[in-house]
Amino acid sequence: MDSFSALIRTASHEQHVEAESSAFMADLLGGRLGVDAYARYTEQLWFVYEALESGAARLASDPVASPFVRPELFRLAALERDLEHLRGPDWRSALTALPATRVYADRVATVARDWPAGYVAHHYTRYLGDLSGGQIIRDKAERTWGFARKGDGVRFYVFDRIANPAAFKREYRALLDAVPLDDLEKQRVVTECKRAFALNTDVFRALGEEFPLSA
Ligand code: HEM
Repeated sequence: MDSFSALIRTASHEQHVEAESSAFMADLLGGRLGVDAYARYTEQLWFVYEALESGAARLASDPVASPFVRPELFRLAALERDLEHLRGPDWRSALTALPATRVYADRVATVARDWPAGYVAHHYTRYLGDLSGGQIIRDKAERTWGFARKGDGVRFYVFDRIANPAAFKREYRALLDAVPLDDLEKQRVVTECKRAFALNTDVFRALGEEFPLSA
């Protein structure tokens, strides 16, 4: 049998293509949307990371999830700086979750509370993606809306405590391969990972409806 990291990657490949090629992402990366759409997207990320990272504290001593919970990954503080830059000092008062974002964040909060292995599926889907494709989004955002390179507005995409992302991803995959779960439970994690991708696609769909360009 393939390693767990290979299994999870292969199993979510189709959903990755779907998320990547959603109209909203395509328009965002194509430079066809205004900075308001980017800010709205960043707001949605705030809810997801709030759920991921407030759940992390509770999992710090869990045998399955704790190896993955690494402070150098935490994104909430960076998101808050970006939102202050994008929306101004009052960013919190206008912050709202789209219904699809609420569903996504609720699912993360639920697994963080009840199912640590399921939390790992969500952790993988977000943070490994941010370390990979996230860098493409940062580059586009800097060029399209003129943010300072790795500065305010795109700090979410900057992992300044991870010097070598490729090495970090290799270590992360080794952690996945060492996870103490039986095959049936691993299969459930793969299913949850697909669900995590689908939840992201749902948020993109909702954002696409709010900022309809490719329609
Ligand atoms: C336009 C948007 C996106 C682009 C351009 C993109 C691009 C990429 C690229 C280039 C990689 C590296 C593949 C490799 O290491 O060989 C990657 C990996 C990954 N992406 Fe994306 N991606 C996008 C959206 C997403 C979304 C929405 C998610 C899920 C929330 C996601 C999750 C992942 C994950 C989990 C990996 C790591 C796969 C692994 O190595 O196990 N990506 N992406």
